[in-house]
Amino acid sequence: MARLGTETAFEVLGKAKALEAQGRDIVHLEIGEPDFDTPRNIVDAGCDALRKGFTHYGPSAGLMELREAIAQYVSETRKVDAAPDEVVVVPGGKPIIFFTILALAEEGDEVVYPNPGFPIYESMINYVGAKAVPIRLREELDFRLDVDELAGLINQRTKLLILNSPQNPTGGVLEKKDINAVARAIGDRNIMVLSDEIYSRLIFEGEHHSIMSIDGMKERTILLDGFSKTYAMTGWRMGYGVMRADLATRIARLMTNSASCTASFTQIAGIEAIRGPQDSVEKMRTEFEKRRGVMVAGLNKIKGFSCRVPHGAFYVFPNITKTGWPSKKLADALLEDAGVAALSGTAFGDFGEGYLRFSIANSIENIGKALDRVSAWAEKNL
Ligand SMILES: Cc1ncc(COP(=O)(O)O)c(C=O)c1O
Repeated sequence: MARLGTETAFEVLGKAKALEAQGRDIVHLEIGEPDFDTPRNIVDAGCDALRKGFTHYGPSAGLMELREAIAQYVSETRKVDAAPDEVVVVPGGKPIIFFTILALAEEGDEVVYPNPGFPIYESMINYVGAKAVPIRLREELDFRLDVDELAGLINQRTKLLILNSPQNPTGGVLEKKDINAVARAIGDRNIMVLSDEIYSRLIFEGEHHSIMSIDGMKERTILLDGFSKTYAMTGWRMGYGVMRADLATRIARLMTNSASCTASFTQIAGIEAIRGPQDSVEKMRTEFEKRRGVMVAGLNKIKGFSCRVPHGAFYVFPNITKTGWPSKKLADALLEDAGVAALSGTAFGDFGEGYLRFSIANSIENIGKALDRVSAWAEKNL
């Protein structure tokens, strides 16, 4: 158990709440969830489902109608032929990370994962006793990965490669040529890919590309996607994995052994989310794009900060090395002295040193307030 890591965002949120309880005003830019409400049509579908009696257990892999809707959506968006028996619905995107690593990696195996990256990857790889092999995401590549470097990390012990695009925490987005090169680097080795595409609908430039779409890769890909970010449904707890049917059966068995099933009424709301109107998705995306502009321009005016433009997700990841402060110390100081909650880049792995992560899932007004505070803090302390 000592090997299990954590997600610092929840700890910083707790610290910020404690300061608020003492009467301090804090701008929350730490947590990664849309500040919008779940669209009304989806909430109505969930409420109706409760009244209609979707209050019982359902199949471990998810309700067939939702699995059909997901299979159709994935077939269209990833240009593959996905079937309902290749879909497992789980409570959030996170369990797909947990289950996949538990199912596929063990002592003696190596798992390559992005660093800086979502901390649960490294945590789970360490937990199962496999070797965590970081692939460093570099700012000069706009935080896409260097495929030559990746090729050098792959060997006969590599069991699993984790990709995440659009990426948390950097906002990096893999281009088609990157995805093609990754598939070439894997070649015909017996390596599975966990492709975390939870931010697939939050792209500001270009298009989303999935490794699943490449010839010969569908059988070796576990696609992770879900509802939390796309439809502002973080608290509903619903996500899914799409994978080979034989693996899907095993992952569903892990569901039987843990959560039994995802909440039934939630799944009915999920069908509405996928099949209903999509205008709210575009509205949120446009709003995040506006905020991104304000945040990046504002950070680039602050002493010691420089920030690239993220191409997806809802985070900015400024370089703070010119402040001369280590990331964790700077994040703590901004929270305690300036009332701005952000995360240290090191919350996402060792290669996050020199960076901070700010979530832009907050209003333009609050983003402006945070920028003023950080700027005033920098003028005073640097
Ligand atoms: C990259 C990435 N994957 C997975 C998740 C988990 O999403 P969920 O809340 O649906 O479990 C997150 C949430 O922050 C994330 O950033």
